[in-house]
Amino acid sequence: MEFTDLTRTRRSVHQYADTDIDDETLVAVFEDVRRTPSSFNLQPWEFLVVRGDDLERLRSVAYGQEHVTDAAAAVVVLGTLDPSDHAERVTTDLLEKGYLPDEAAAEARLDTVDGLADADDETRRVWTVQSCSLAAMTLMYAAWDRGIASCPMGGFDADALRSEFGVPDDYDPVLLVTLGYPAADAADIERDRKFRRDTEEVVHLDEFDPAARGPPADD
Ligand SMILES: Cc1cc2nc3c(=O)[nH]c(=O)nc-3n(C[C@H](O)[C@H](O)[C@H](O)COP(=O)(O)O)c2cc1C
Repeated sequence: MEFTDLTRTRRSVHQYADTDIDDETLVAVFEDVRRTPSSFNLQPWEFLVVRGDDLERLRSVAYGQEHVTDAAAAVVVLGTLDPSDHAERVTTDLLEKGYLPDEAAAEARLDTVDGLADADDETRRVWTVQSCSLAAMTLMYAAWDRGIASCPMGGFDADALRSEFGVPDDYDPVLLVTLGYPAADAADIERDRKFRRDTEEVVHLDEFDPAARGPPADD
C-alpha cells in the first residue's frame, strides 16, 4: 500500500474477523518493526505476542476491554529501562561502519549511555517510551500494510500485567497493540474517519506561538 493510503485508511479497530494471523506474517511484520529508529540506536524494545486463551489473561489486566479477546493477537510493547543493555554491540557497529570517527568517540558514547543508565526512573522511563512508541507505530502500519488492523491501547494496569505475565521490573509495559483482520462490517472502518485537527492548527512554521494554538473559542 502507498504510505499516504496507509496513514489515511488506518483506524483503531475493535471488531476483528475470526481469522488467525499466521506466524510467517507476524514475523514479516516484526521484520519491519525492528527497523524503527531509536534513541542512540539502542532498540530498547521487546515484544510479547499474546494469542489464544492467554488473551483472556491480558484482557483481565486491560480493564476488561473486549477487543483484546476479539483480536487474533495482542502485542505487549515492553521497554527496557536499562539503556546500557545493548550499548556495546551498537557502539561497536557504529565504529566499524564509520559512524564514529575513533575509539575515543566510541568510549565517549558509551559513557553517555552509562550516564543515562544512572539517571532517575522517570528519565529512563521517558527514554524508553519515546523509542517504543515509534516501534508501536511501525507495528500498526506494518500490520495494516498486510491487511491486519490494530488498536493501540494505553488502558491497562502495568503492574498487574507485569505480575500476570512474569515481566521483570526492569521492563516497562509501554503500550498494548491488538492485531487482527478486521471484521467484514467493522464499524471503526465503515464510519467516517474521526476528527483530526487541521495542519494549520498544529504546525508552526519557523516560530512557535502558543497564543495561536487551537481554534477560536465559541463564546
Ligand atoms: C497512547 C494511546 C492509548 C490508547 N488507548 C486506548 C485504549 O486503551 N483503548 C482503546 O480502545 N483505544 C485506545 N487508543 C486508541 C485511540 O482511541 C484512537 O487512536 C483515537 O481515537 C483515534 O482513532 P483512530 O486511531 O481510529 O484514528 C489509544 C491510542 C493511543 C495513541
